[in-house]
Amino acid sequence: MTNVENAIKYFYDNQNRMTDSYLDLVRIPSISNDADRRDDMVRAANFLNDYLSKIGFEKTEIFPTVLHPIVFAEKKSADPAAKTLLIYGHYDVQPVDPLNEWKSDPFEPEFRGEHLFGRGASDMKGQVMATIFAVESALQSGDLPINIKFLIEGEEEIGSVSLEDFIKGHKDVLSCDMILNPDAGMVGKDRPTLVYGLRGMTYFEVRVDGPKADLHSGLWGGNVANPAIVLSEIIAKLHNPDGSVAIPGFYDQIPAMTEEERTRIASNKLTEEDILEITGSPALYGEEGFTPVERQGARPTLDVNGLYSGFISEGAKTIIPAYAKAKISCRLVPNQDPLEIFELAKDYILSIAPDTVRTTIFLHSAGPAYLADDAPGVQNLVDAMAEVWDNPVTYKREGGSIPVATVMQRELGVKSLLTGFGLPDDAIHSPNERINFPNWLKGIEALIHFYLSFGKA
Ligand code: BES
Ligand code: MN
Repeated sequence: MTNVENAIKYFYDNQNRMTDSYLDLVRIPSISNDADRRDDMVRAANFLNDYLSKIGFEKTEIFPTVLHPIVFAEKKSADPAAKTLLIYGHYDVQPVDPLNEWKSDPFEPEFRGEHLFGRGASDMKGQVMATIFAVESALQSGDLPINIKFLIEGEEEIGSVSLEDFIKGHKDVLSCDMILNPDAGMVGKDRPTLVYGLRGMTYFEVRVDGPKADLHSGLWGGNVANPAIVLSEIIAKLHNPDGSVAIPGFYDQIPAMTEEERTRIASNKLTEEDILEITGSPALYGEEGFTPVERQGARPTLDVNGLYSGFISEGAKTIIPAYAKAKISCRLVPNQDPLEIFELAKDYILSIAPDTVRTTIFLHSAGPAYLADDAPGVQNLVDAMAEVWDNPVTYKREGGSIPVATVMQRELGVKSLLTGFGLPDDAIHSPNERINFPNWLKGIEALIHFYLSFGKA
């Protein structure tokens, strides 16, 4: 048997034990934006640290940050000329609300049909464990032809707040020739995908304050502005009737899309029917003049992610709310400067806010877009995928954001191989997140081919 066959056999011989470890990790409720979960964040970091050390990583370390710890591990090849692959992951997950929409406990993973359900099963504990199990299996063939480093953070879902400083301060530790980032995904089952673009993000919050406390709407309604109504009016002015964003200057820095790029993007083949089916929305909505895949990956957007005002419990209560809040994020494309977009948004919102209320705006996080298709190791990865799947690789511009890719390109000088084995209907960030298990198994096979491909002459 070849080394690759050996490793794949080892994986399937040990599939149940490894799957149990994956489920154990999903059981840890490592929600990064929840202050009550800090112990669980530490547990998840320890879990990964211990697992990596158990499978033979000689150097493993947990670095504390002001928020959630970062796990680093290294396994050197015996070959002094071996190249170094840095694998990125995050062990934090999104909150689970609305909890009553879940058909099973988000932190008690459950198999139903060919899916495994649980928060983080796809984004991205499944991806992290896939990369680890593939290393564990590849190691059965003896020495690895590459040095492997793992960098696993706990703040990706809240904008990778501590990671940039960590990378800047540990450039030697993190030095590498290639970066594998499996936090992206596949365009469909059995359709291996390489992501060559990610959108950036500017996330801010708008707060409209009116009366000093909630008021009786009968006594005072008619004489003071209602913050919920004012905020709704502001939000209604953030888009034009053609679906474009109305903030002046929002599109100014974006170069026109070339015909070549339009053709390349179209290779994704995502249809309107797919989107209706996956999202459950009754109709599509978006910027005029662009196709759905262009809107998804190559055009910027503005969305309200949360809206809060007044009485939101069951039943009725007659008040004028004291305040209203909106959480708003913009997905950005290359050339849009995230901080400049924040300033433009702030100036515009303040200019349209009436003086019957006090309007304040503050920034949550900001990160630029990413575009690069020639990351080192790309041919090895494409070939590895071809060993496992019959369909050719699809090149995709992703609509989601992975802030670390840009930071690593700038600070370490290495572009990332963005891939993953999640599917568009995994319901990441939503209730009933799941992973397609057979597709995940194939992903592990592909990773084994990838790691061991570097030993070939
Ligand atoms: N894994 C996702 C990003 C993603 C989603 C890539 C779908 C490919 C397909 C990642 O964990 C994520 O959700 N990131 C956040 C980042 C934000 C908080 C800066 C996002 O995109 O909302
Ligand atoms: Mn993720």
